[in-house]
Amino acid sequence: MASLILFLSQLALLGLLVRVVYLCYFHPLARYPGPFWARFTNLWRFITFLGGQHHLTEQLLHNKYGRVVRVAPNWLSFSSLEDYEAIYGFNKSVEKDDFYTFGRGSSQREVSIFATKSSAIHRQKKRKVLGPALSSSKVGRYESTITKHVAVLLSRVESLRRPADDDYDRTAAINMAPLIYQFTLDTMLEILFGPAVASHPYTDSAVAGDICSQLRMMTKTAWSFSLWPTYGWLMNTRPINALFRKPTFNKEGVPTGMVGLMAAGHSAIIRNPEKIADANQPGIVKSWLEVPIGDSNHMTQGEVLSEALNLVFAGPGSMAAALTSILYHLGTQEGQVWQENLRQGKHVSEESTVATSVSLKLQAVIKETMRLRAAFPTAFPRLITPGAETVIPSLLTPLPVDTTVSANTYVLGRSREIWGDDADQWIPQRWLGDEEHRRQMENNFVAFSKGSRGCIGRDLALLVLAKAVVAFVQQWKIKSVGQLQGKSHLEMQYDECWLEFGPR
Ligand code: HEM
Repeated sequence: MASLILFLSQLALLGLLVRVVYLCYFHPLARYPGPFWARFTNLWRFITFLGGQHHLTEQLLHNKYGRVVRVAPNWLSFSSLEDYEAIYGFNKSVEKDDFYTFGRGSSQREVSIFATKSSAIHRQKKRKVLGPALSSSKVGRYESTITKHVAVLLSRVESLRRPADDDYDRTAAINMAPLIYQFTLDTMLEILFGPAVASHPYTDSAVAGDICSQLRMMTKTAWSFSLWPTYGWLMNTRPINALFRKPTFNKEGVPTGMVGLMAAGHSAIIRNPEKIADANQPGIVKSWLEVPIGDSNHMTQGEVLSEALNLVFAGPGSMAAALTSILYHLGTQEGQVWQENLRQGKHVSEESTVATSVSLKLQAVIKETMRLRAAFPTAFPRLITPGAETVIPSLLTPLPVDTTVSANTYVLGRSREIWGDDADQWIPQRWLGDEEHRRQMENNFVAFSKGSRGCIGRDLALLVLAKAVVAFVQQWKIKSVGQLQGKSHLEMQYDECWLEFGPR
């Protein structure tokens, strides 16, 4: 028996060795440079991700190896705009795959627009999700809800302002990172569900519990599940779920935190949709539910629930990352003049679309920050399906079907090839110029991605950011203290952004 076990383990070891040698020297991607471990294991990528600096690692790798890097046995990363456009542009044969189901498998509930693979199904979903609720002509309806939440954020800051201990002419710095996350989550939840689920503001309610940190943790773990599927499968098994994902309850026995929110969302959409529909303020879920049965944009309640929960993950973290970094840069030495610029004139007006309602100067500040500090400093993976083997311009030989390809928005935002030698500096001025120049800049901008899978919340995000930024600079003179501190876990999650708020 012992010799049989010994023989089998030797056989397994030999098999492993043969596989490693194949992956390192004979695999079709073996010709591409990259870190040693990445040639034969996904673990390298998983561990780098958990460290929270994978965007910096990818930038270093491209600086070292050039435009194409093998970042996992079956995964190539790219850094040029042409390759980015080939991957994320309108190429139907470069698709999403199971990566976006985060270890749960796609059969467990309605697949949301974000996780949909086939481009034909995606096209239908996009029409249903975007048309009634998120198109550029529709998002203006949420303006009064956004204004209300901006006022809450400003009053939270006001309540924390006090003179600095060592200098009574200055105010003590406040860490804005958690306050901004709270603001974007509250705003998103009320725009999404309306008062039927999201009392105002939700994070102050008894059922909110520790919802901000739970949501941050969930986005981080979801991405890690996909980077190492075996781990993802394990973490989604019943015993592990029971052990680590225990719901919390308030004194009345009502579930709190993310479990509480999901339960409330489920109950409102599936059991009491009329409560959402009866609300007298515009909302995303309300707009979806109002589409009559028989209309090609009508969604079942299951679809509405899936899309709504998806937006809870897509919106708040990314908007928080963007707003935190914008306020930080406005508070720096170079930002002072831009604060002054934004104090003069009107920067958010009531036009029919968000793109024309936000002034060029304010757009310049927002886009320059999002270029430099990608809110999603992530390499969103895509799969080469039949027909796409030769679509990537940097490659001289066809790629095998089922190869994963990606280009990191952070790496492209910092690329000197695209932005010039001052790519690492914050210069909003670069966005101003004649129409042709602005079109060129827009073409280089990938923070919201491109093509049919680009962000559908872009207009809403721009409106929220614009309104919050203007409110801050009109109320105070902002000064940044120290550096922005945070980690990249799908979205950039900031822990520290210390700002002083002095009189204007
Ligand atoms: C500053 C804020 C935001 C940034 C930087 C951002 C960025 C992005 C990026 C890069 C993608 C492409 C992801 C991929 O290729 O897999 C994306 C997709 C998406 N975003 Fe955003 N986003 C932001 C805000 C929002 C908001 C507020 C919403 C919700 C209203 C939203 C909803 C979505 C959805 C549903 C998708 C998937 C679209 C599809 O597959 O068709 N995003 N976003």
